[in-house]
Amino acid sequence: MALLLKKFNYSDLKSILDIQKNETRPYWSERQILDVCDDIYVLKDKTITLGFIVIKKISPDAEIHNLIIKDNYRNQGLGKVLIRLILGTLEESITRIYLEVAANNEPALRLYRALGFTEIGRRQGYYSGDKLQSDAITMRLDV
Ligand SMILES: CC(C)(COP(=O)(O)OP(=O)(O)OC[C@H]1O[C@@H](n2cnc3c(N)ncnc32)[C@H](O)[C@@H]1OP(=O)(O)O)[C@@H](O)C(=O)NCCC(=O)NCCS
Repeated sequence: MALLLKKFNYSDLKSILDIQKNETRPYWSERQILDVCDDIYVLKDKTITLGFIVIKKISPDAEIHNLIIKDNYRNQGLGKVLIRLILGTLEESITRIYLEVAANNEPALRLYRALGFTEIGRRQGYYSGDKLQSDAITMRLDV
């Protein structure tokens, strides 16, 4: 694979929407994606879009708002690669990364723990939509 992390541009929109199509978890609409497009980075292997991350940076903090790897590429280390690549792009002024993850999302919890994120809180019933009902675990990584 020739992995590359790049900033979102409009030509990535369709592949990002496609990646989310088979998700059982709630996915982001075109409108939601375009609203945060400055905060989106896309992981590619040549022309294939493998995943994307939405990360908002407000120094000294950054917050991961979304992260997804294409379903048939999961559990091959790509989530870890994506986060490690994004860590390499952060300005020195960013010292903490926060995120919220559903308490029943075992793959995501394992990924974040493996990267050194620690649990700093739990929000009861944070996710309460049709597709997902779960507490949220708040995690933090000091970088
Ligand atoms: C969460 C997600 C991004 C992980 O990406 P990934 O590329 O599959 O993760 P990796 O292959 O880098 O694996 C990272 C760790 O998670 C574990 N893992 C990955 N998939 C797993 C699964 N289905 N079940 C159990 N553990 C799993 C790996 O074993 C690895 O742990 P280890 O380092 O202790 O061995 C991916 O599953 C996904 O896109 N899920 C749907 C969207 C989502 O839930 N996003 C998170 C929002 S907070």
